[in-house]
This record gives sequence, structure tokens and C-alpha cells, in this order.
Amino acid sequence: MNVRLQNKVSIITGSSSGIGREAAYLFGKHGAKIVVVDIHDAGGEETVYHIRANGGEAIYVKADVSGATDMRNVMQKTVGTFGRIDILFNNAGIPGNRAKVENVDEEFWDKTYAVHVKGIFLAVKYAVPEMRKTGGGVILSTGSMQGVRPRVGYAAFASAKGAVNVLTKELALELAPEIRVNCINPCPIFTPMTGGSFTPQMEKDILELPLKRGGKPEDVAYAALYLSSDESAFITGSCINVDGGRAL
Ligand SMILES: NC(=O)c1ccc[n+]([C@@H]2O[C@H](COP(=O)([O-])OP(=O)(O)OC[C@H]3O[C@@H](n4cnc5c(N)ncnc54)[C@H](O)[C@@H]3O)[C@@H](O)[C@H]2O)c1
Repeated sequence: MNVRLQNKVSIITGSSSGIGREAAYLFGKHGAKIVVVDIHDAGGEETVYHIRANGGEAIYVKADVSGATDMRNVMQKTVGTFGRIDILFNNAGIPGNRAKVENVDEEFWDKTYAVHVKGIFLAVKYAVPEMRKTGGGVILSTGSMQGVRPRVGYAAFASAKGAVNVLTKELALELAPEIRVNCINPCPIFTPMTGGSFTPQMEKDILELPLKRGGKPEDVAYAALYLSSDESAFITGSCINVDGGRAL
């Protein structure tokens, strides 16, 4: 196998489950040292267990991405354990709530922005000084096709993911040339987040996709692997759709 991330120290948020976990497994297989970050301990420890069982290196750090103290601690533990930070994959997320805007409560709105937007800000703020010490690195975030082509009922989620797309471009400008910054816009991917929650309308939408199926976590993980590796060395400020053609 062509190992593409040998010894790259990679922080992946939201890797107790779904897309983040799949990316952690794939990065681990490609030689990366993984820092699993999540609020869900059992899932995080399970991700670590599987990476180690396959001969990889990984630790779990419990952290709420929307908390500054937690995210500072993630960077300290990462550098304390592995000595550096090469890759930061901001992937933690919570579902949208499919409610018309007049029925969205303020608490849900704030939490959506705290996890998806402030979470990236804090991770970047505390990771970048460490990345600079070792010559740079790669930052990657999970947006959503909702942030590009929104659907009714996702005002908070879609606008927060739209912010992830713009933040990616701003950071790419600000952090170049040492740090590349890109984002992936998935939709729809079968994960615990979507599991069981597809409405008949959503299932119809999936069958109308050009590729005629929903996505798998590995579809996103492979895009993340590419964007994190040197194979994408000339790509920054890009948002790649992993969406079965939904954008068309
Ligand atoms: N599944 C899809 O169809 C889809 C579509 C578009 C975007 N996304 C995005 O993909 C990312 C991953 O989602 P997924 O589908 O794998 O869902 P998932 O629920 O399987 O995984 C999300 C993970 O994030 C963690 N998390 C939630 N809040 C957190 C917080 N405050 N701090 C730390 N960790 C936290 C959860 O515990 C969970 O492990 C999310 O950003 C989501 O918005 C998913």
C-alpha cells in the first residue's frame, strides 16, 4: 500500500462516530498518528482501540469543540504526546433540526453556531501556533451541501455550514503559504447522524441524485485523505463537494 500520511500527527474532531471515525481509521492505516477528539467517551475509546489493533498510534482526548479550555487542552495533549501538529480535521457536528425559522429556538441556533463555527475558530486559534513551529500543516473542515445549496427547514445548520465554507477561504488566504486550508461538503451520508432520520422526501431526493445512492463515511474519508496528503499540495481555499452530484 502507498502510505500517504506517514507519522503525520492528525487531530480529528467528532471521531467517535461516522465520518470522523472513518477518517481516523483511514488516516491510521496510512501511517498517521491520530488524536481522537469528541465528547462521546465510549465511541472515542473504541476508535482508538481499532486504530491500535491495526498497528497504528492513537489517543483519545475528551473535548467539547465549542469550549476554549477544552481546545487548548487538546493542543497541549497532542504536542505533549506526539510532539507536533501536522493535520487538523474539524469535523465535529450536530444535526440540523428541520424546522421552519419561526420555530427554531434560540438555544438551538446558538449551539449550532457554537459547534460548527466557533468550534473551528477555537481549534484553528490554538493549533496554528503549534503548526507554525514545525513549518506548517493542513487544516480541513467538514461543511455541508446545505451550506452551498440549502433546503427549507435548515436555517441554522445551512447558514453555519455556509460560514464554514467562507471561513475556509479566509483562513486559506490568512495562513498561506505554510498552512493549506480546505473543506469538504458532504450530503447525504449514511452515518449515526442521519441514521433512521431520512424522511420519505429525503429518500426520494437520494434516488434522484445523479449517482443514485446515498454516501458512505468512506466516500468522505477518502476526500479527506487526499486533501490532507501532499498529493493536494497545490490546493488551498477549496471546498470539495462529496454529494453524489447533488450540486448539479
Ligand atoms: N451525514 C451527513 O449526511 C452529513 C451531511 C453534511 C454534513 N455532515 C457533517 O459531517 C460531520 C460529521 O457528521 P456525521 O454524519 O459523521 O455525524 P455523527 O453524529 O456520526 O458524528 C458527529 C460526531 O461529532 C461529535 N460531536 C458533536 N458535538 C460535539 C462537540 N461539541 N464537541 C466534540 N464533538 C462533538 C459527536 O459526538 C459525534 O461523534 C458533521 O460536521 C456534520 O455536520 C454530515
